Amino acid sequence: MHRPTLWLTLLAYAELIIVSLGSPVIQHVSEKNSINKRASMTPRSSSTVSQPVLWDDLADIEIIRVNETFYYSASTMAYSPGAPILQSTDLQNWEYIGHSVPTLDFGSSYNMEGGDTAYVKGIWASSFRYRPSNGQWYWIGCIEFSDTYVYTSSSVTGPWTKHAVFKGTCYYDCGLVFDEDDTPQVAYGTTTIQVATLSSDLTSQVSNAEVYVYDEYVEGSRFYYINGFYYILGIAPGTAVEYVIKSSSPTGGYIGGNVLANAPACPVTNGGAPHQGGIVDDPQGNWYYMGFCDAYPGGRIPVLASITFDDDGFPVLNDINSWPSSLEVPLEQNVLSEPTGTDDFSDTSLGPKWEWSHNPDESAFSVNNGLTLRAATVTDDLYQARNTLTHRILGPASVATIEIDVSDMKSGDRAGLNLFRDVSAWIGIIKTGENLQIAVWKNITMNSDWTTKSIGELEVSKEISETTLHLRASANIRPGGDAAGQFSYSTDGSSFTELGTTFTMKTSWEFFMGYRFGIFNFATEALGGSVKVGSFDLALVD
Ligand SMILES: *[C@@H]1O[C@H](CO)[C@@H](O)[C@H](O)[C@H]1NC(C)=O
Ligand SMILES: *[C@@H]1O[C@H](CO)[C@@H](O)[C@H](O)[C@H]1NC(C)=O
Repeated sequence: MHRPTLWLTLLAYAELIIVSLGSPVIQHVSEKNSINKRASMTPRSSSTVSQPVLWDDLADIEIIRVNETFYYSASTMAYSPGAPILQSTDLQNWEYIGHSVPTLDFGSSYNMEGGDTAYVKGIWASSFRYRPSNGQWYWIGCIEFSDTYVYTSSSVTGPWTKHAVFKGTCYYDCGLVFDEDDTPQVAYGTTTIQVATLSSDLTSQVSNAEVYVYDEYVEGSRFYYINGFYYILGIAPGTAVEYVIKSSSPTGGYIGGNVLANAPACPVTNGGAPHQGGIVDDPQGNWYYMGFCDAYPGGRIPVLASITFDDDGFPVLNDINSWPSSLEVPLEQNVLSEPTGTDDFSDTSLGPKWEWSHNPDESAFSVNNGLTLRAATVTDDLYQARNTLTHRILGPASVATIEIDVSDMKSGDRAGLNLFRDVSAWIGIIKTGENLQIAVWKNITMNSDWTTKSIGELEVSKEISETTLHLRASANIRPGGDAAGQFSYSTDGSSFTELGTTFTMKTSWEFFMGYRFGIFNFATEALGGSVKVGSFDLALVD
């Protein structure tokens, strides 16, 4: 739906007519409606960005602008496809448009083979860039401290393909820049910041230089070439201080270590200080810093602030110690798509909001007027089961409802909707023989090395006869809130019955990724069963 865009277009058209008619009465109406709602990119357009920019778990921000469009890339660890791409034209309304890494091609644990899993591994802070000289988009990231992967595409929405692997070379927390000669340069490292110069085709390293040493632990390099200078951002994660260094050469001569943001309070109550962000300018030349606040159980959420370049040419928050609760931007409001609503899986592939836990078994699912999930693993452990399909929880509190047809389940199968993280719980169907039970299962937990600690236990179950059900999970992910999850079900889709007591989500940060809604189906006896998910609906709740 692009209703707001259409509305804006009509308004602009109306204004054109007004200008040519010169009617004072209609002119008045036009002025009243013109705030935030001008279709043309005139300096008079403006809108208010509220915080957080988007209440979705999207950490390790890379933000760039190409022409009038902003693009945002983020970390996804063991979720597949990885490194989502979002777009926006107003810095507030973001739309998922694809992923840079179609498959986590990083080893068998990403397919959950042989009992190995890759939880908390995979895609960490990585870089995303557009190269005007050849029209290619690039993603580059280090996996598991060992190898660096490059993916590329001629269209931002894909298809993206694996372009190069730097075996044994880790550009940890890297930022990519194409320098003034169009040479790819990669800033990376911890505390000792390094810059690797790559071959023009990004397949090999030409040289490497140590360019700056901090006197405390710093990581999260973000690399820019702005008005003849190279800038590398770095974050001290312990204190949430964002630093910046600057040079006229990409590979040496850096000065600074200036503070861009001195751990200002998150504009979201109880969120951690905004940090590890990127900077970007709008088409009018105003600059912004977008960082993320830790906001568990939901994860890490983006917030935006204006920055300026000081007299020495360093980017800095307007007040390094505080973050605005909202800001005016000279950009016309433009809702590209609503974050809430119903996905009825009417396409033949999944939309870009969806990510599997680990790479899916492609033979075990299909999308075609519904999502068919064939049980992909025989296990009693949710964390060892392939093909859990996840969706970020929209904050501050949202509710997900799926319609599920369970008539093709086999004895021993378990399928339903979960709240997925290192402490998980679910509502679902347990089939035993010909008997169907609706159940809530809790206390599915991981050890600190992300192996399974407990497969959990049944809290409550009830026999049912219906084979089309609506399963619902609500989740309050406000930081400092009650972290409550509640499951319910319905046989008619309108009247819901709560099942089980409130599930309290875990709020520690160590798993990094926040809670997600997950749709799952696994077998405990034998493969062969399947479920069909007719729809997934996401709504905000008070
Ligand atoms: C940016 O705008 C230029 C000029 O209109 C156009 O040629 C180019 O294709 C655009 N780039 C992208 C990535 O859309
Ligand atoms: C889960 O663990 C908690 C705390 O150890 C315990 O009180 C509870 O009974 C367990 N089982 C369920 C189903 O919640």
